Amino acid sequence: MLTIKSRSHEYTVEEFASLREALASVAGGERALFLVDRRLAELHGAELHPLLPAERTVQVEATEQHKSFEALTPLFLELLQRGLKRDGVIVVLGGGVLQDIGCFIASVLFRGVRWELLPTTLLAQADSCIGSKSSINIGPYKNQIGTFYPPHRVVVPGGVLATLPWDEIRSGLGEVIKLQLLAGEVGFRELMHDLQDVRSQPPVLSKWVARSMAVKQPYIEADEFDRGIRNLLNYGHTFGHAYESATHFGIPHGIAVILGVLTATHLSARLGLVPTGHYRELKTLLTPWYEPYGTQLQTAPRDAIFRAIQQDKKNTGQTVNCILTRGFGRMEKLPVALAADIVPAVNHFIENEVAVG
Ligand SMILES: NC(=O)c1ccc[n+]([C@@H]2O[C@H](COP(=O)([O-])OP(=O)(O)OC[C@H]3O[C@@H](n4cnc5c(N)ncnc54)[C@H](O)[C@@H]3O)[C@@H](O)[C@H]2O)c1
Repeated sequence: MLTIKSRSHEYTVEEFASLREALASVAGGERALFLVDRRLAELHGAELHPLLPAERTVQVEATEQHKSFEALTPLFLELLQRGLKRDGVIVVLGGGVLQDIGCFIASVLFRGVRWELLPTTLLAQADSCIGSKSSINIGPYKNQIGTFYPPHRVVVPGGVLATLPWDEIRSGLGEVIKLQLLAGEVGFRELMHDLQDVRSQPPVLSKWVARSMAVKQPYIEADEFDRGIRNLLNYGHTFGHAYESATHFGIPHGIAVILGVLTATHLSARLGLVPTGHYRELKTLLTPWYEPYGTQLQTAPRDAIFRAIQQDKKNTGQTVNCILTRGFGRMEKLPVALAADIVPAVNHFIENEVAVG
């Protein structure tokens, strides 16, 4: 069991062998309302059904459109109509999308209501479930609205990743890979070794869920509100978010992060921060983890990519604050000129470096 410190409250991360055991452990009794990923409910209905009272369960489709400010009003109303009170509990079952929705609602409804999270995707288990953030889209702008309000408990259900599509596993691995690049060379190489067999040996994922949280925990405890060192966790995200939004979320989040990590490393090499050989090695190792989404990136409107980079929350004026790298475990936040450095680097990356087909 892990205990995470937060300005608002400490919370634990506990693992359970199954979804049923995890769900049976949540708080609230009759005061609990359940926000459940619709796809998860379809796939795990037999296990979930006896434990989810229909009158206290709201199913939500896990799409970026549903994770938007505009789509939240009916959800607030549904929770209130189903009797959620100030002393109630919102129990969220799903991946990062359900987490973002649940966290945002829990943080503002009654100015803060208890919530517990059962993360059911690799991305949510390994990365997003700790760290307090909610991120909500508005109009075309991704993740621009949010709060810091950690769950009161994270309950990781075992076995649930077995139904996750391979691309969603790869998407989670995008954040796992990023975290190990931040941790340093030894962890990154061990991960790359383990990933060779990940399809035939899925249990190895639970090792990397734990290892990912161990890398992330010190960053979020030292800088919960993302004003300093925690920014480094955004390695790959300035470009990844732009690739996601320019393809209308056609590239899954963590896969876009892999492309973003490669872009940031390519840019770092062009700026002389890291040897080109480091970029070349990452390109060789990481290309299989984003293919075949390079094609989508190549056909994405370039002006939409640059608009999104400019609008990134790390941007100030004509420079963009990018997380760049000087090597394994040596990431730094630096201002980079948009027109002189970022535009040519991104153009070169997309036109010459990305594998397509
Ligand atoms: N708040 C944060 O700290 C944070 C961090 C990283 C990412 N995010 C956000 O998380 C979102 C991505 O989250 P995600 O990658 O977890 O994807 P997701 O929540 O969109 O889920 C991916 C797909 O898997 C389905 N699914 C969920 N659990 C399943 C299971 N066990 N078996 C089969 N299918 C299942 C969902 O219905 C969906 O179709 C993005 O919106 C991103 O911005 C938030």
